[in-house]
Amino acid sequence: MSELKQHDVAFTVNGKAETLSVSPRTSLADALRDTLGLTGTHIGCEHGVCGACTVLLDGKPVRSCLLFAVQAEGAAITTIEGIGDAQSPHPLQRAFNECHGLHCGFCTPGMIVTLSAFLKEHPQPTSADVREAISGNLCMCTGYQNIVRSALRAAELIEGAKP
Ligand code: FES
Ligand code: FES
Repeated sequence: MSELKQHDVAFTVNGKAETLSVSPRTSLADALRDTLGLTGTHIGCEHGVCGACTVLLDGKPVRSCLLFAVQAEGAAITTIEGIGDAQSPHPLQRAFNECHGLHCGFCTPGMIVTLSAFLKEHPQPTSADVREAISGNLCMCTGYQNIVRSALRAAELIEGAKP
């Protein structure tokens, strides 16, 4: 079978302009991980069910396993690496640490990316709101209690109401 022609695609990732040459079949998840080395985006089911591969595309959470990289032309992509890091953690990362919101951590990048967009639009969520927000992110370890607690704690931290 003949090789598929490579295509150039340009987008920004975590604020940095990138131009990649990819196969038209390359998923955005593979381009981020394999070409750009951003392995914080995890790949679980590869068919849109688990949410581990969630990134922000122009501020909205998307399944990067379901998008071809070429479909992200011109977009602003944010991965977990762009949400925060050890030196400057996002309040969600602080809260997940504080409230034990992870065990193995496989689902955690997708959870945090999803919740980062959710908390922008719902700064004072209820526990039920959080459960609904992460209903598309599967965790096999935690039973969700501490994830929900972490999200509520992050909302407090963002609001600055409690230290
Ligand atoms: S790897 Fe994309 S939704 Fe599971
Ligand atoms: S912490 Fe292990 S899958 Fe969620």
